[in-house]
Amino acid sequence: MQPNMGIELSTLLAQAGTRRDSATGAISTPIYQTASFAHPGLGQSTGFDYSRTANPTRSALEEALAALDGGCRAFAFASGLAALDAVIRLFAPGDRVVVTEDLYGGTFRLFEKVYRPLGIEAVYVDTADTEAVRTACAAPGVRGLLVESPTNPLLRVADLRALAAIARERGILFVVDNTFLTGWLQRPLEQGADLVLYSATKYLAGHNDVVAGAVVASTPKLAERIAFLQNGAGAILGPMDSWLTLRGLKTLALRLDKQQQNALEVARWLEKHPRVRRVHFPGLPGHPGREILARERTGFGAMIAFEVDDPARVPAILAGVRVFIFAESLGGVESLVTFPAVQTHADIDPAIRQRLGINDRLLRLSIGIEDAGDLCKDLGNVL
Ligand SMILES: Cc1ncc(COP(=O)(O)O)c(C=O)c1O
Repeated sequence: MQPNMGIELSTLLAQAGTRRDSATGAISTPIYQTASFAHPGLGQSTGFDYSRTANPTRSALEEALAALDGGCRAFAFASGLAALDAVIRLFAPGDRVVVTEDLYGGTFRLFEKVYRPLGIEAVYVDTADTEAVRTACAAPGVRGLLVESPTNPLLRVADLRALAAIARERGILFVVDNTFLTGWLQRPLEQGADLVLYSATKYLAGHNDVVAGAVVASTPKLAERIAFLQNGAGAILGPMDSWLTLRGLKTLALRLDKQQQNALEVARWLEKHPRVRRVHFPGLPGHPGREILARERTGFGAMIAFEVDDPARVPAILAGVRVFIFAESLGGVESLVTFPAVQTHADIDPAIRQRLGINDRLLRLSIGIEDAGDLCKDLGNVL
């Protein structure tokens, strides 16, 4: 894959990792399952010395990830949280980071339980409210803005272009967790972000078979700092998992297009169901984020959250689904149902959860590539 050749992103994705093995012509990037590389001579290198610093399979993935988001370099980590950890290490004790309030529970836990005691403070804000972000960023000590959009699990949408302008004005680092849409549907670097962050476990890899993370840098200077942290702290993605993620990436466009189309059908169906009180899906008319995503020609993604009329119904729904799988992840080809209040967001203070609407009647759906009719029928049976 060679970026900047003026060819479409779907073509780049399909050919990710090809043409890398001139010795054999292997179409698929080999899995270089090696820790170390022989030096051709004293002071000489093949470009690869030790796999923590660089490994050819990981490099193939990283180049594909950089092209996907239009970044200058990308870095693959052992998990999404390891990628986030590298990003937070860019800050120093005394710094504050303005962060989306209804964000992934593990991100909240990392800020609160690991970095707050070390002096880096997260300030939680509704990042769908641009003016609230402007006010929060004006506080003393703010050095960064970290935004999930759409958010997890409530699918609130931030105006990334407006937030980038605020970050630029204040000279702070703007980071976007693009896990829910990926560079196929939303390109935050083009909207002014400095770094893009991923749980590659989700749509990028796409098959619920690998845990991985990534950071994409917009400038060589930022890339150099992330490269240093990736090698210095060492939370790298191994060759086998790099290969699995690279293979997943090849079908990202196909998968996400189908998942998004399915999600729209399921969301419309849920909206009409008498036992459903509320549906959160940015593709539905009336969703407050729909206009922003439509303006940016961004996709709406394939995540849905909905409230049932009676919380007592939730255990039977989770036990009764036959096509959906009751499990704690998202973004794969299989549809999953999650109960955020007790699973993904259990680490968030119950009072905050309640205020945000992550309540005991809220379920989250990750829509896969199955037949949309089967998905609706499954939900119909348990509702
Ligand atoms: C939006 C988002 N960011 C980051 C993460 C963390 O990624 P990982 O589970 O790969 O460490 C998740 C995991 O669910 C997530 O949903």
